[in-house]
Amino acid sequence: MAFNFFKKSEPKKEEQHSGPHYYDLKVKRVVNETKDAISIWFEQPQDKKIQYKSGQFLTLIIPIQGKEVRRAYSLCSSSFTDEDLVVAVKRVDNGLMSNWLPDNLKEGQMVKIMEPMGQFTTDYAHSNKRHIIMFAGGSGITPMLSIIKSLLTQESESIVSLIYCNRDIESIIFKDELSKWETKYEGRLHVIHVLDNAPMNWQGYSGLLNHEMLKKLFERIPDWGIDKSTYIMCGPEGMMKNVDTLLAQHNIPKEKIFKESFVQGTIDKDVKKETALASGEVKTREVVIRYDGQEHKVIVKPNDTILASALDQGVDLPYSCQSGLCTACRGKALSGQVKLDEEEGLSQSERAEGYVLTCVGHPMTDDVVIEIG
Ligand SMILES: Cc1cc2nc3c(=O)[nH]c(=O)nc-3n(C[C@H](O)[C@H](O)[C@H](O)COP(=O)(O)OP(=O)(O)OC[C@H]3O[C@@H](n4cnc5c(N)ncnc54)[C@H](O)[C@@H]3O)c2cc1C
Ligand code: FES
Repeated sequence: MAFNFFKKSEPKKEEQHSGPHYYDLKVKRVVNETKDAISIWFEQPQDKKIQYKSGQFLTLIIPIQGKEVRRAYSLCSSSFTDEDLVVAVKRVDNGLMSNWLPDNLKEGQMVKIMEPMGQFTTDYAHSNKRHIIMFAGGSGITPMLSIIKSLLTQESESIVSLIYCNRDIESIIFKDELSKWETKYEGRLHVIHVLDNAPMNWQGYSGLLNHEMLKKLFERIPDWGIDKSTYIMCGPEGMMKNVDTLLAQHNIPKEKIFKESFVQGTIDKDVKKETALASGEVKTREVVIRYDGQEHKVIVKPNDTILASALDQGVDLPYSCQSGLCTACRGKALSGQVKLDEEEGLSQSERAEGYVLTCVGHPMTDDVVIEIG
C-alpha cells in the first residue's frame, strides 16, 4: 500500500503561465456549505480530462490586490465518483484568498489552476481488505471525503472510520453528504462527530479529544488489528499534535500514521534560518535546476530560498504553499547539500532519497543540482 501520506512571499511580478502544468477551469457552481465554508465546482476541460488521485490538491492562482496569489485546496471530489473537480474553502481570519473566494468568485468565471499534486494518496485495489481510521478537523475533511468515496467504491472489502472534530454543529462541512455515504455503505463507513461546543440535546461526543475519549471512540469503531489498519489525519495544528500524542499512547506505530498539514506549525523556521545564517553556513551560491527538459542556473542569496530566487530570476518553477507543506515544489538533489527550514512536508524515506523542497531550501555547497518533476 502506498499511502504516501505522509512564509509566504508572493512573486514580485505578475507571471504568464501556460503549458502542460496549468489549466484554465470554468467555475460551474459555488455552494455555501456552512456559514464560513464554500465548495467550488470546476468543469473538467472538454478536450482532456484532468487526472488526479484522492488526497491531492489543486493550486488556485488568482490575481488579488495586484498580486498573483496561489493557495492549495485539497480536492473533495473523487475521480471514481464525480464528474467535476470540487474543492472546499473555509474562511481564515484575515486570510487573503480564503475570504476573497467566497466574497468574489462567481459561476462562469475562469480560474487558473496548477495541475493536481500531493503525496497524501493511496492506490486502490479490489483485492485490498483494510481499515482506514481518519481524524479530521474543520476544513481537513476535504481530502478525507475524497478518499472515503474512492475507498468505498473501489475496495468492497475495506472499511473507513472517520472521527471528525468541529467547533459546533453549524460548522460541520459535508455533514449531510457524509450521512448519505454512511447510509449507502452501512457497516463500511462509521462517522463519529466530536464538537467543542455541543448543544443540550447532542447525543455524540463533545470536548477536546483526550486519552479517555479516544479509548471510548476506539471501542465504537471496528478493531481489525494493527496490520490491517492505517491512521490518517488532517486538521488544525493543535488537533494533529494531540491526535499524534494519543495514538502514541495507544501504541500505534509511527509508520501506520500519515498526516496532511494545511498550515505551517509554530515551530519557527525563521529561528532555524537565523541559526544557519549566524553560523555562516548559508552563503550566496549558484544552483542548477533541471525542469521540463531545461537547465537553469539560479543565484541564491543567503536570505532567499531556492524557489524565491528562481522566481525572481524569471524561472517558472512549480509551487503552491511556499511553506514546506504541500510538496508542489519538490525536487531531487542529484548532487550537493540543501538545508531545509522546514522538513515536515517530506517523509523520512523521501529525505533519505535526496528529495528537497525548493520553497524552504538553501544550498549549503557549491555543487547543488536539483531535478524537478
Ligand atoms: C496541501 C494543502 C491543502 C489545503 N487544502 C485546503 C482545503 O481543502 N480547504 C481549505 O480551506 N484550506 C486548505 N488549505 C489551506 C489553504 O491553502 C490556505 O492556506 C488557506 O485558505 C488560508 O489562505 P489565505 O490566503 O486566506 O490566508 P493567508 O492570507 O495566507 O494567511 C492569513 C493568516 O492565517 C493563517 N492561516 C493560514 N491558513 C490557515 C488555516 N488553514 N487555519 C488557520 N490559520 C491559517 C496564516 O498563518 C496567516 O497568519 C490547504 C493547504 C495546503 C498546504
Ligand atoms: S510550495 Fe508547498 S512545499 Fe514548497
